[in-house]
Amino acid sequence: MDKVEKKRIEASFGRHVNAGQVRYLKSGHLDVIETCRSGVHFVDPVSRRALIDGFTSAGCFNVGRRNPLVLQALEAALDELDMGNDELLSPAKIALADRLTQLTPGDLNRVIFAAGGGDAIDCAIKLARGATGRSGIASTVKAYHGHTGLALSANGKKHYRWFCEPLDPAFTFVPFNDLDAMRAVVTEDTAAVILEPVQGEAGIFVGSSDYLQGLRRLCDEKEALLIFDEIQTGWGRTGKMFACEHAGVVPDVMTLAKSMGGGLFPNAAVLYRDIGLLSDFVDENPDFHASCGGGSDLACRVSLGVIDFIMEEGGCENAARMGARLKSAIEGLAQENPGLIKEVRGIGLMIGLEYVHEFMGPMMSDALAKRSVFAAYSGNARQVMRFMVPITITDVEMDALIAAISGALADMKRLLPFALPAARIPGVLPLLNNERFQTWLFGLLRKLEKEPAGEKMAGKGNAS
Ligand SMILES: Cc1ncc(COP(=O)(O)O)c(C=O)c1O
Repeated sequence: MDKVEKKRIEASFGRHVNAGQVRYLKSGHLDVIETCRSGVHFVDPVSRRALIDGFTSAGCFNVGRRNPLVLQALEAALDELDMGNDELLSPAKIALADRLTQLTPGDLNRVIFAAGGGDAIDCAIKLARGATGRSGIASTVKAYHGHTGLALSANGKKHYRWFCEPLDPAFTFVPFNDLDAMRAVVTEDTAAVILEPVQGEAGIFVGSSDYLQGLRRLCDEKEALLIFDEIQTGWGRTGKMFACEHAGVVPDVMTLAKSMGGGLFPNAAVLYRDIGLLSDFVDENPDFHASCGGGSDLACRVSLGVIDFIMEEGGCENAARMGARLKSAIEGLAQENPGLIKEVRGIGLMIGLEYVHEFMGPMMSDALAKRSVFAAYSGNARQVMRFMVPITITDVEMDALIAAISGALADMKRLLPFALPAARIPGVLPLLNNERFQTWLFGLLRKLEKEPAGEKMAGKGNAS
């Protein structure tokens, strides 16, 4: 692909899909096209750089880009299957349901398939309300559960909600990792408590074992259901197949999506405990939730391939080992830069680096893009750069990632003698932290560059 073709794609995308997105990506040196997707890399054909995928659509590519074993599973399925009729029994669905119930902890022995993460969250909340006959849902501040109706109502940040208000009024939000705050809002009218065991978009906050165990007790006491959203944290991401295993807590309902489809064919599921309250509700209301695309036969075969790969190739162990390497390297950088980095958090390969100012997350993302790493700051906490590389990452690839992070930090520091004093002028910090202003400013700086940074770096990456 040449620059002319790329410009045509950008113009067309802007005209027919989303011009704001094009502007935003360009301003952050992320106007790249994904080709030669393999393992932790993809190649931008114009600059000929191989970029490390450090974002993975927040956990969609745990098994790497175009994982050969998962591709094989899809190819074999394509030889004989299609999506399948959503209403009918199917061996592929049953095989996956059996496998999922063996894989998930405790008595999470029942499955409802869904089309994507938001759909799974909506289904979980409907299940909780339908089974308990209660309406209240307790969620957490800055939680992210998706963009569909009930999932949006469960989102703890105004940014995604304000234009859609009024949303469901029976949702309450309390700070994460604060059991007393949750205790204060869970009542006899609470159908469920919903949370991510490790908050992702909120800026990578690991739910402590005490907190998660306390929530379990609280829900038992109030006869409310405990829903864990493992859409981002599942499939080996945190060093265990599911994050709740670290605390030894079995939720009543667990939602799965993203890497369940191996980054190839979307799939999602709601697992729930085989207890009368839940199973009876589903058995008596078999059509309480439906999705033509959810749990399609092709997707189920892909998900089986994903499970085989993670189990056979030691995906969880690798995530734990590589995550420890990455975290300790970033902690080292934090110690060297105490005035810039506030905290490093995370578990497994779900690591967040929090800066002192919100505008520094986008700066870091831009600096990393120039060094051939695609990584994104947290959607609900832009001061937190998060790293979610595939759990297949090797030692050599991790060396390259750590070197790029350290280099990007050094690049960023060269701009801070201008940005930090400016941030102290009254009124400037809110402007610097404003997303629209950043896009405009970064876009302007990008235009002033003599030559696109991508071009300058051409050939430097490993375009294998
Ligand atoms: C924790 C969490 N829940 C739910 C979702 C929604 O998933 P989807 O985009 O598949 O609807 C996401 C997506 O980023 C997520 O990270």
